[in-house]
Amino acid sequence: MKPYNIKGFDHCELYVSNAKQAAHFYRTALGFQPIAYRGLETGSRDRVSYVLKQNKIRFVLTSALEKDSAIGRHVEYHGDGVRDISFSVSDAEGAWKDTTSRGAESVLEPCLIEDDRGQAIISTIKTFGDTTHTFVQRDGYKGVFLPGYQVYETEEQIADPSGLVHVDHVVGNMPDGRMQEVCNWYEKIFDFHRYWSVDDKDINTDYSALRSIVMASENEKIKIPINEPADGKRKSQIQEFIDYYHTAGIQHIAMSTKDIIETVGKMKDNGIEFLQVPKSYYIGLMDRVGDIDEDIQALAELGILVDTDENGYMLQIFTKPIQDRPTLFYEVIQRKGSNSFGKGNFKALFESIEREQEARGNLEPAGG
Ligand code: FE2
Repeated sequence: MKPYNIKGFDHCELYVSNAKQAAHFYRTALGFQPIAYRGLETGSRDRVSYVLKQNKIRFVLTSALEKDSAIGRHVEYHGDGVRDISFSVSDAEGAWKDTTSRGAESVLEPCLIEDDRGQAIISTIKTFGDTTHTFVQRDGYKGVFLPGYQVYETEEQIADPSGLVHVDHVVGNMPDGRMQEVCNWYEKIFDFHRYWSVDDKDINTDYSALRSIVMASENEKIKIPINEPADGKRKSQIQEFIDYYHTAGIQHIAMSTKDIIETVGKMKDNGIEFLQVPKSYYIGLMDRVGDIDEDIQALAELGILVDTDENGYMLQIFTKPIQDRPTLFYEVIQRKGSNSFGKGNFKALFESIEREQEARGNLEPAGG
C-alpha cells in the first residue's frame, strides 16, 4: 500500500527557447487560455513561465532569463521539449519519500511554497532521459495555479477553445533496447501495471517499426506508453526522435475531445498541420470498423483515423512536429468506448510518417 495517491496528470512543463512566443502559439493555434505568469515582474529572476489552460489540461511554458542555465542547456541540447510531466498527488512528501526509497533519483526535495492565496507542496524525481515527474499537492490553494505565479492579464488575449478536454496519455520514446528497463522502473517506483502492448510482429516490417508498452497507474488515470525502435527496412520514427532529442524523451501528448471533427477543424483553421493519410484509407472503412456516428466524408476531409476494439471505437489524429526538430507532436483523440491505442491505424500512420521522414532526409536504412 503506497502512502499517497496519484489523482491524475497535473500539468506538463516544456522548456522552450521563447516562452512568450510559444504561449501565443498555444493560445491562438491550440486554443489554450493563458491563466498565470511568473517572470521578472513577479520576482522570478532566472526564468519566465506562462501557464495555459484548456478544460483539465495545463501547460507550463518556461524559458531561461540568464545565460548558462539548466533551462538554456536543456533547450540547446534537446530543442523545445517536455521537461516535466507532473502528477497531482494526495501527499507530495509521501510520494517523494516512497519513490526515492524505491530507487528513484531526487531532483527536488519536498518543499512548501506559499503566497497570500495559500500553500502547496511540490517535489520532483527524475525519470527517463532529462525528463522529470513533479508531485503536486495543492491542498486548498486558492490561487490560479501555484504559489509564485500571478494571474495573467488576459484582456487582449482571450483564447477561442478548440475543445481539448484532458490528457489521455503521454508517450515516452526510448533508445533501442531500453523499453523494458523503463517499464520495470515504473513498476518498481510507482507500482504501475502493463496495460497494453504492441511489438514489431504486429507491424508490417516494410514500415519503420516500433515496440510499445503502455504503463498505467492503479486508477489508470495516468497512462504512459513507452516506445523503442524496432528493426525494419527503414529507419524507425523512434530513432529519428532519438537522433534529434539525443536522449529518451516525450514523443507526444494525447489530448481528448468530445467532438473531434469540430476540434480538428478549428485547429486546422488556426494553422496546425496534421499528418495526412491517403484517401484510400477511407475506402471500406465501414466494413473494417462497423457503424460509427461520424460522417466518413467529414473524417476523410480532415484525415481523422478510426480504430475499434471489443469495447467500442476511437477516433484519432496526429499533428506534425510542433517545433523545428522532428521531436514532440500532439495527438487529438476521441474515445467512444474503446480503450485501445490505435493498433489498426499503425500501417496507414507509419506510411504517412515515412513520407514526412523522407522529406526531412531521415529515412535511410538503419545504420545507413
Ligand atoms: Fe498516442
